Amino acid sequence: MTRAIALTVNGEQCGGDVEPRTLLVHFLRDQLGLTGTHVGCVVGECGACSILVDGALVKSCLMLAVQADGCAVTTIEGLSTPGALHPVQEAFVNRFGLQCGFCTPGFVMASHALLMRNPNPTEEEIRRDLSSNLCMCTGYVQIVEAVKEAAVTLEQWRTSRT
Ligand code: FES
Ligand code: FES
Repeated sequence: MTRAIALTVNGEQCGGDVEPRTLLVHFLRDQLGLTGTHVGCVVGECGACSILVDGALVKSCLMLAVQADGCAVTTIEGLSTPGALHPVQEAFVNRFGLQCGFCTPGFVMASHALLMRNPNPTEEEIRRDLSSNLCMCTGYVQIVEAVKEAAVTLEQWRTSRT
């Protein structure tokens, strides 16, 4: 038996019929076509499926789609604006914070969540926070550098608006 859910995803109202066991990551990818959220371990270890639910970082393989009923979800597709990457995405490109790219959407979402919570993190805080996510390619140095660059860019952006 399926259940109808309705939620906001990347600012748009959407919904669908899901089975009680449907994972949120599968709903996003298979029913909404938002394949930027990747499926890695499906047991909460790798962070490839990281998204925001009501502003909080969530591993979408650990959440059922029915639990997201009525929530506001942001996926990697919701970060950029037409013609412009989000500063965190731009910093990952500038600092070569990716190689194969499989982990990248999750790292970008986790970094974005960190910088919303803590706009000026230390390297130790960045490393501790991003330990929720795994990368098999980069060795993490470039990812940490990308988060530092994004923090500076976002600070400049905030300053220019005040
Ligand atoms: S796929 Fe969700 S944490 Fe690995
Ligand atoms: S860039 Fe390949 S797993 Fe991170």
